[in-house]
Amino acid sequence: MSTKNYDIKDIKLAERGRFRMEWAAKEMPVLRLLEERFAADRPLDGMRLAACLHITAETANLARVLQAGGADVVLTASNPLSTQDDVAATLVSHFEIPVFAIKGEDNETYYQHLHAALDHRPHMTMDDGMDLVAALHKDRRSLLENVVGGTEETTTGVIRLKAMAAQGALEFPVIAVNDALTKHFFDNRYGTGQSTMDGIIRATNVLIAGKNVVVAGYGWCSRGIAMRASGLGGNIIVTEVDPLKALEAVMDGYRVLPMAEAARVGDIFVSATGDIHVLDLHHFEAMKDGAIMANSGHFNVEVNIPALEAMAVKITRVRDFLDEYQLADGRRLYLIGEGRLVNLAAAEGHPSAVMDMSFANQALAAAYMRQHADELENNVYPVPDAIDKEVALLKLTAMGIQIDTLTAEQDNYLNSWTEGT
Ligand SMILES: NC(=O)c1ccc[n+]([C@@H]2O[C@H](COP(=O)([O-])OP(=O)(O)OC[C@H]3O[C@@H](n4cnc5c(N)ncnc54)[C@H](O)[C@@H]3O)[C@@H](O)[C@H]2O)c1
Repeated sequence: MSTKNYDIKDIKLAERGRFRMEWAAKEMPVLRLLEERFAADRPLDGMRLAACLHITAETANLARVLQAGGADVVLTASNPLSTQDDVAATLVSHFEIPVFAIKGEDNETYYQHLHAALDHRPHMTMDDGMDLVAALHKDRRSLLENVVGGTEETTTGVIRLKAMAAQGALEFPVIAVNDALTKHFFDNRYGTGQSTMDGIIRATNVLIAGKNVVVAGYGWCSRGIAMRASGLGGNIIVTEVDPLKALEAVMDGYRVLPMAEAARVGDIFVSATGDIHVLDLHHFEAMKDGAIMANSGHFNVEVNIPALEAMAVKITRVRDFLDEYQLADGRRLYLIGEGRLVNLAAAEGHPSAVMDMSFANQALAAAYMRQHADELENNVYPVPDAIDKEVALLKLTAMGIQIDTLTAEQDNYLNSWTEGT
């Protein structure tokens, strides 16, 4: 366990990180507004808040809002490969926010960092994938009595939390920020769509046009990836297990195939399902020489990496974040970013403009939790509708876009049943 009050790569990177934070802030007008509001109202005064999030410029701007609201914030990474080391340095040196995160840290260090954040004895947790909440409940139960509540950023974390709550194992209420419409409609779709393709291109520099791009899943993330890969000229093939999602993919104009068939024709494979071994041994056996694989789901389990390693006669890092697996039959398969979130490992994560909305939800959900924790049970709660609507309205206003409001006549009409044909 770390005894220092931070653990980052290099404090001297702070100046570069500050520019990066400021650049991101330009696209985060809603957070800027909340920072002013939080500084005036101090809704998190006296709260120790441990956040396990991707340490990016956008997260740094969120941390500033929480700090302005009176929270004593500590940050740890939610993925060993997603940390922007310069931003981590800025948070420590310019804002006195302790950070425990180094890009490329091994699993052991990842968990040491997580525990170092828990040493902070948080009143609130802010998680992305639920690793912090899991560690609290499994290894640090004595700290649970301090915790009033938490928030969760992503689909996989919400699924894990709901499983915990169903078993009666969750010891405090958590707000599922992911489920806010102003989060997953935008962050998961447009954010993951753009940044996943960005990660694949940065890692490989391959031309997408004319390639068969196999997208596993057609949920919020995958449909964003399919949309952007299609825009770059890829021939999209979708694989699904949910008939409704598969039907949507068909009617959106994509080819839908079982993965066993897609494996034979795909040039680039991207998985974003939240599921395990979506790309498995029998798929690797069928793939073409040169096939490239990437994962944009939360954990590095969507590609069966142990099976791929076992098959390989040689593994070579051929570019930053790109490993070549040479197979006994001579074929070479490629895996980007060690099968971890490709958009964060090989690119910079979501563009700030979408994180503006996700993190506005985080900040407002944290303030709501502080105010209402007493009334909540140890369960998973949606973001209140009023917060969701407020975030959408603030974003539109910041973009200079106005919309109509219902007239009294329309309001009355929409709330009545008597008028027909
Ligand atoms: N890369 C990022 O920055 C980022 C951002 C947000 C969410 N996520 C993560 O991405 C994953 C997906 O999130 P989402 O919001 O799109 O979830 P979602 O529930 O909307 O979609 C997941 C889809 O995958 C499908 N699926 C499950 N198993 C499958 C299989 N074996 N083959 C094909 N399809 C399968 C499901 O039927 C579902 O339609 C989660 O792990 C989430 O935490 C990543």
